[in-house]
Amino acid sequence: KRDSAEKIKKDEQYIMSTAVAIRDLKNTDNILGVVVVSANIDDVYLLLEEISSQIYLLALLSSLLTGLLSFFTSTLITRPIKELMKSVLKVTNGNLDEKIKVKGNNEMAELAKSFNLMTERLDRIEESRQEFVSNVSHELKTPLASIKVLTESLIFEENIPIEMYKEFFSDINHEVDRLNTIINDLLSLVKLDSNKVNLNIAQTNLNNLIEAILKRLSPLAKKKDISLIYQSDRETTVEVDEVKLTLAISNLIENGIKYTVEGGQVTINIQSNSQEAFITVTDTGIGIAKEEQSRIFERFYRTDKTRSRDTGGTGLGLSITYRTIIMHTGSIQVESEEGIGSTFVIQIPIKHV
Ligand SMILES: Nc1ncnc2c1ncn2[C@@H]1O[C@H](COP(=O)(O)OP(=O)(O)OP(=O)(O)O)[C@@H](O)[C@H]1O
Ligand SMILES: [Mg+2]
Repeated sequence: KRDSAEKIKKDEQYIMSTAVAIRDLKNTDNILGVVVVSANIDDVYLLLEEISSQIYLLALLSSLLTGLLSFFTSTLITRPIKELMKSVLKVTNGNLDEKIKVKGNNEMAELAKSFNLMTERLDRIEESRQEFVSNVSHELKTPLASIKVLTESLIFEENIPIEMYKEFFSDINHEVDRLNTIINDLLSLVKLDSNKVNLNIAQTNLNNLIEAILKRLSPLAKKKDISLIYQSDRETTVEVDEVKLTLAISNLIENGIKYTVEGGQVTINIQSNSQEAFITVTDTGIGIAKEEQSRIFERFYRTDKTRSRDTGGTGLGLSITYRTIIMHTGSIQVESEEGIGSTFVIQIPIKHV
């Protein structure tokens, strides 16, 4: 009754057929015949199937790829950043020995390396700060303890002769001087360490500077029957902070006198070329063991030999010298043999940069 078109599946083949009725012009209900056109559309279906399976495959592959890609980006970028954030938080909370595992060779690895270097440095600073505080307290406590004992014995003893008062007060005076020296040394060191200190650089005659030190220290040497020998083949002028360099060199010569037995020698030598000046302090003293030579520039470090003796040092002199020379962009070396003597060589540039 109606025109129709349909597709049928017959014998595993797709066929599309269309039927159109031929009607009587006068009476359209009267069908005179039917025209049927049919065609095999198998290949169209095959093509469609092929395309749709390809589309499925593509969709599957692309979602798989997107998944993999986002997974990798998250592990490559997000995860290390999260780790870094965790570590930064730990450091902020005071966990200074925090380390990040360094993986790969990219910018994140570089960042992790820098982070590790930073925490290492922080850790070292914190360690030396604690050591410093404990050393300072210890060094200040020793003279205070002596003063306490001396004053208590004066307070609680009865009928003390005047001579004893004098002796104890002179001891107390000595301990107060010692406290003063330690505090002054500490203050110089803190200033030198803070890098805030400005060098007061001026053209300075090195020979005059050293001669003045020797003049000041000669009574100390004479007391121990130590001969101070001064050698210099020419006048040397350097750009330095005169006050600070004087203290640095004095510390070396004082050590030479302090750690040399009676009758010994301390020799001071100045040499220079067009660029650098060398100040050498050699003594015929007790010497420093090889394994201790690298440590004597540390604050409060005293060698085994001298700690037990009553030479009365704090272990700050050489660290002041070291810091001062470094600030003058120079260097300091030590050579020593136990029982034979020590040589300290300071090198400083003639022109300050
Ligand atoms: N010329 C030297 N011969 C032998 N040992 C030395 C000499 N110079 C330094 N030392 C050793 O190095 C240590 C550190 O010296 P440093 O000058 O820093 O401290 P100190 O002399 O003990 O005290 P101070 O702070 O009063 O100078 C000394 O305690 C001593 O053990
Ligand atoms: Mg000293």
